[in-house]
Amino acid sequence: MYWALLCLTSLTLLSSVVTAVIPYQQYILAPASRTIHPVSIFRQTGSVSSANSLLGARKTGGSALTLETFDSSATYDFGKNIAGWVNLNVSSPTGSIGITFSESSMWVSSAACDATADSGLDASLVFNISTPGHYEAPWDKERGAFRYLTVVNEGTSPIAIDDLWVHFTAMPHWADNSLRNYSGWFHSNDEQLNRIWYAGAYTNQLVTIDPRRGDALIPLGSAPGDTVGWVLNTTITNGTSALTDGAKRDRLVWSGDMSIAVPGIALTTSDLISVRNALDSLFVLQSPTGMLPYAGYPFNERGLVSFTYHLYALIGVANLYLYSGDKAFLHEKWTAWKRGMEWATAQIDSTGLANVTAPNDWLRFGMGGHNIEANSILYYTLSLGVALATDEGEYTTAAQYAQIASRIQQAAVPLLWQPSVGLFRDNETTTLAPQDGNAWAVKSGLITNASQITAISQALEARWGRYGAPAPEAADAVSPFISGFELEAHFMANRTQAALTLIRRMWGDFMLDDPRMTNSTFIEGYSVTGALHYAPYSNDARISHAHGWATGPTSSLTTFIGGIQLLSDAGATWTIAPQLGDLTHVDTGFSTSKGKFSSKWTTSGTTFSLSISTPKGTKGTVGIPLPANQNKTLLFDGPAQADIVHGDSTGRYWISGLSGGEYEFVVIAL
Ligand SMILES: *[C@@H]1O[C@H](CO)[C@@H](O)[C@H](O)[C@H]1NC(C)=O
Ligand SMILES: *[C@@H]1O[C@H](CO)[C@@H](O)[C@H](O)[C@H]1NC(C)=O
Ligand SMILES: *[C@@H]1O[C@H](CO)[C@@H](O)[C@H](O)[C@H]1NC(C)=O
Ligand SMILES: *[C@@H]1O[C@H](CO)[C@@H](O)[C@H](O)[C@H]1NC(C)=O
Ligand SMILES: *[C@@H]1O[C@H](CO)[C@@H](O)[C@H](O)[C@H]1NC(C)=O
Ligand SMILES: *[C@@H]1O[C@H](CO)[C@@H](O)[C@H](O)[C@H]1NC(C)=O
Ligand SMILES: *[C@@H]1O[C@H](CO)[C@@H](O)[C@H](O)[C@H]1NC(C)=O
Ligand SMILES: *[C@@H]1O[C@H](CO)[C@@H](O)[C@H](O)[C@H]1NC(C)=O
Ligand SMILES: *[C@@H]1O[C@H](CO)[C@@H](O)[C@H](O)[C@H]1NC(C)=O
Ligand SMILES: *[C@@H]1O[C@H](CO)[C@@H](O)[C@H](O)[C@H]1NC(C)=O
Ligand SMILES: *[C@@H]1O[C@H](CO)[C@@H](O)[C@H](O)[C@H]1NC(C)=O
Repeated sequence: MYWALLCLTSLTLLSSVVTAVIPYQQYILAPASRTIHPVSIFRQTGSVSSANSLLGARKTGGSALTLETFDSSATYDFGKNIAGWVNLNVSSPTGSIGITFSESSMWVSSAACDATADSGLDASLVFNISTPGHYEAPWDKERGAFRYLTVVNEGTSPIAIDDLWVHFTAMPHWADNSLRNYSGWFHSNDEQLNRIWYAGAYTNQLVTIDPRRGDALIPLGSAPGDTVGWVLNTTITNGTSALTDGAKRDRLVWSGDMSIAVPGIALTTSDLISVRNALDSLFVLQSPTGMLPYAGYPFNERGLVSFTYHLYALIGVANLYLYSGDKAFLHEKWTAWKRGMEWATAQIDSTGLANVTAPNDWLRFGMGGHNIEANSILYYTLSLGVALATDEGEYTTAAQYAQIASRIQQAAVPLLWQPSVGLFRDNETTTLAPQDGNAWAVKSGLITNASQITAISQALEARWGRYGAPAPEAADAVSPFISGFELEAHFMANRTQAALTLIRRMWGDFMLDDPRMTNSTFIEGYSVTGALHYAPYSNDARISHAHGWATGPTSSLTTFIGGIQLLSDAGATWTIAPQLGDLTHVDTGFSTSKGKFSSKWTTSGTTFSLSISTPKGTKGTVGIPLPANQNKTLLFDGPAQADIVHGDSTGRYWISGLSGGEYEFVVIAL
């Protein structure tokens, strides 16, 4: 069989029909307005009437929810995780109303909320009614995430409520009617993947908060047997919005979480200012030694140190620069960045590897010594540093970073690679093969040998259970955070089908579709048994169901399935090399300050066609996938500016030196 590759040159006509319409809006979970009403009734207890009168936008003059007796309650379901202040119009003249919140249906209760503290449950929000009218939660009683809201009569007189709504508070810096203003999109023939991509985008919106509403860590008034008070009144950074780890908790800046969340944000909402405000809050806390904090204020006051999160803060600067192209930002942070790198490389000993003594990480255990995850992240950060130093015109620094990175690479394999297992061990005193270190060894580029990369991908896949990929370095945990890096490793190994299988199994069948989940945002961690128990926590009610670090598939689908990879600032240079797996059509894209990037492809088995769009003034390479084991004869009718066209052992035709613009490529079996 013969294959022909046709490039239908620049489609200049298309650029004139670009409209402001946001594609595939029906998948966007963000609300159209900040006023949100419940969509259904989850449960009623005691003496309740007309609970359904509070569903949907309220018409004045209708009947009212009535809770006749003490402890009567109605639980409303918003159909997805939301955030904000509860509002009530009360028509009874007196009484006491309790409100409880829960992300998961597991913790729905008329007595207490789910939890934000290490133990106990969060107290209900109480409204003492002294006159009919409008009541709203105090400003520091915004609830950061909940899908279920229970209204309970906490007094002896009957309660009547005319209207109930939530004022949505996430993405505080975006106009009330523009919460759905996405710059990125993803659509494929797999509806579950589409939902996953948009749930990741929405999760990152929910964890973007008013920086004056940070930190739900302080348990208040916890007498034995009491529920725990909670308050969101800590200012965690300057500015009007900040990217945090989780919507319910911690509502703090964590650099590790950002390493997954930020690429997802850049490719969906482009909300980079919230990323910048978060990074600033870490850099103002840099110590004189160059070390960056484990987390932002006020958690930094606990004095915990982390080698890996230190590096993640440095990666954060590189990511923000990559997606924004903001050279002034890079320049402003550059001196601090180099000091940070000096601190990190000072941990390298005579082996050529860092000996980790700042042991805090993503709540895994045993992060010490010559750890493979830590050293892979260091290798990766040094590689980013080579590019940043080059952009800063500091070629000597770039060469130093490259040399140190190369020593790490040469030292890691002989010391830590286990050929018979096909995985790295955690450090030289163990045989435990961690998920984090093996995923990072591939993601970082530390290993370049294709057969080792394939071996890692296969060995990680062999460990999957029904609920996903285990992280033995954190006992009984499935980590959607580290599994986000594992996904990237499978894609980089070109084991596309493995990556898609893991996305569907973990993020689709379980994290969206399990009835204990929110069907809209992604959970921070759970047990390999599928129990909603996360090994590092003793309090299951505390688990966050909206964690930015769990949104890995969103950026991976755009980057590997759409194939769009930005190589330098805001996409000045790029590669588009789609991976197909079992999909038949995909349409994805996003914008940076340079303009729009998109990749749209379809395949029928005998024809593959790809349309791409990249901004004027950029340059890139396209890698067209071809079926394996075919006689690849090439017919090419391409743009004059394309330098090279060749098929190679990776089963792609590469067309490099393309100028930004719109192109269509078609491969046909002859
Ligand atoms: C509830 O109160 C608000 C504020 O007073 C008012 O705008 C709204 O119309 C009321 N809702 C109903 C159903 O009466
Ligand atoms: C409501 O009234 C109870 C009983 O008088 C009191 O203990 C509580 O502090 C009041 N709560 C609020 C929020 O006013
Ligand atoms: C939507 O976002 C674009 C940038 O991505 C911005 O130019 C536009 O003003 C935004 N629209 C609204 C209504 O906020
Ligand atoms: C936050 O609320 C707690 C409990 O009410 C209070 O002790 C603390 O002073 C408040 N902090 C700020 C900054 O308002
Ligand atoms: C916030 O601004 C103040 C005043 O400029 C500055 O001192 C402080 O370091 C800033 N904090 C952060 C987290 O950027
Ligand atoms: C080496 O790895 C094992 C397994 O993760 C761990 O138990 C041990 O504590 C690690 N050593 C150090 C020094 O952290
Ligand atoms: C790492 O450094 C610590 C502190 O200096 C030391 O006790 C430990 O033996 C070192 N670990 C290795 C594997 O060299
Ligand atoms: C790549 O790894 C395989 C398996 O460990 C090994 O046999 C081979 O020699 C390595 N190739 C190179 C170039 O190092
Ligand atoms: C995966 O494919 C890319 C080209 O698309 C190639 O550069 C790379 O070497 C391949 N990786 C492995 C592990 O086969
Ligand atoms: C989950 O949400 C999707 C929309 O994203 C909806 O179509 C589906 O019905 C929901 N599933 C359940 C079980 O509610
Ligand atoms: C591939 O096609 C070329 C051109 O027709 C032909 O000469 C060659 O024998 C074919 N090779 C194989 C392996 O089929």
